[in-house]
Amino acid sequence: MKRFAIKDYGTAKDVLIEIEAEPRPVDDTHVRVALAAFAINPYDVALRQGAMRDFRTLKFPYVLGNDGAGVVTEVGSDVTHVKVGDEVIVHAVGGTYGEEVVVPGKKLVKKPKSMSWEVAAGAVTPWLTTYNLVTHLVGDKIGETVMIQGASGAVGSLLVQFLKVQGKTVLASASKRNEALVRQIGADQFAAYDEEDTGAIFADQADTVIDATKGGRAGEAGMQIMKTGGNFVALNDLPSEQKKTGNYLSFGPSKDYSDVEALTALTDLADKIQLTVAEVLPFTLESVVAGHETLEGHPLAGKIIIKKAE
Ligand SMILES: NC(=O)c1ccc[n+]([C@@H]2O[C@H](COP(=O)([O-])OP(=O)(O)OC[C@H]3O[C@@H](n4cnc5c(N)ncnc54)[C@H](OP(=O)(O)O)[C@@H]3O)[C@@H](O)[C@H]2O)c1
Repeated sequence: MKRFAIKDYGTAKDVLIEIEAEPRPVDDTHVRVALAAFAINPYDVALRQGAMRDFRTLKFPYVLGNDGAGVVTEVGSDVTHVKVGDEVIVHAVGGTYGEEVVVPGKKLVKKPKSMSWEVAAGAVTPWLTTYNLVTHLVGDKIGETVMIQGASGAVGSLLVQFLKVQGKTVLASASKRNEALVRQIGADQFAAYDEEDTGAIFADQADTVIDATKGGRAGEAGMQIMKTGGNFVALNDLPSEQKKTGNYLSFGPSKDYSDVEALTALTDLADKIQLTVAEVLPFTLESVVAGHETLEGHPLAGKIIIKKAE
């Protein structure tokens, strides 16, 4: 079984390798999935570069990948919500960069037929982040007006759409080149962070600000945009100096969040939510290296997906 792994921390070209792995046995609680597609996430790039090494120990060769979609080929006897032959969306702790993955039954749901393999694989982490942040981390305190920084990103664009489904007023920022995309997915107002002072434009307007950028200077503008006493949520670092009174929250995965609950919500909303896919690359090591290298820069909006030939 072909898989793509890192043999150490380092540059994409130096450490990504193709390996031949033995299939893992499936116990009563697990499911085997033949993967049709997997997504490359910014997190994979950070993991490969060694940015998490102080708090997450990897055993090399380590197969990256949390997000995938494919067909069930074996089901443990305790798992009742999927059967062999079902098309599924998978959230794994690691290991989706390959031909198959074995995951606990609670880490997958059936994929709607109308959802493409690339969208199913690409939506997993961005959607789990969106859903759990809005539904569980902030919840009812979110207010009526929400600012999304990084609204053209995978997480940011799903946040805009999920909040519009809930009837919120959504203010948004991204780079000018992505203005049309952000308006098309439903943002009520847009400001370009690379051409305008977004903090001044939306000053004191948002009950909740969500910094869905890759980190950096957005926090400063975000604090300006948050109403005093509002919520500020960051996917990366919170602003070091919190100049305004507010509820400052860091989002992170939690064992209290149910993947089946969140992914079922995604399948229920499948016809209302769009995910931009930037590139669909063939199932080769060269594609995985290229995908990682693209994500290290400032790529065009949209997910990078590796897809097996059908
Ligand atoms: N904490 C968690 O559990 C968790 C979960 C998921 C993701 N993340 C992290 O969250 C970040 C976003 O993930 P993603 O997959 O959505 O990445 P992405 O698709 O690359 O999106 C990042 C977005 O940030 C925007 N951006 C950059 N600088 C900005 C600024 N100063 N003001 C406004 N927007 C700005 C970019 O917009 P333009 O391209 O238009 O410039 C881009 O759309 C990544 O760092 C990821 O690792 C964390």
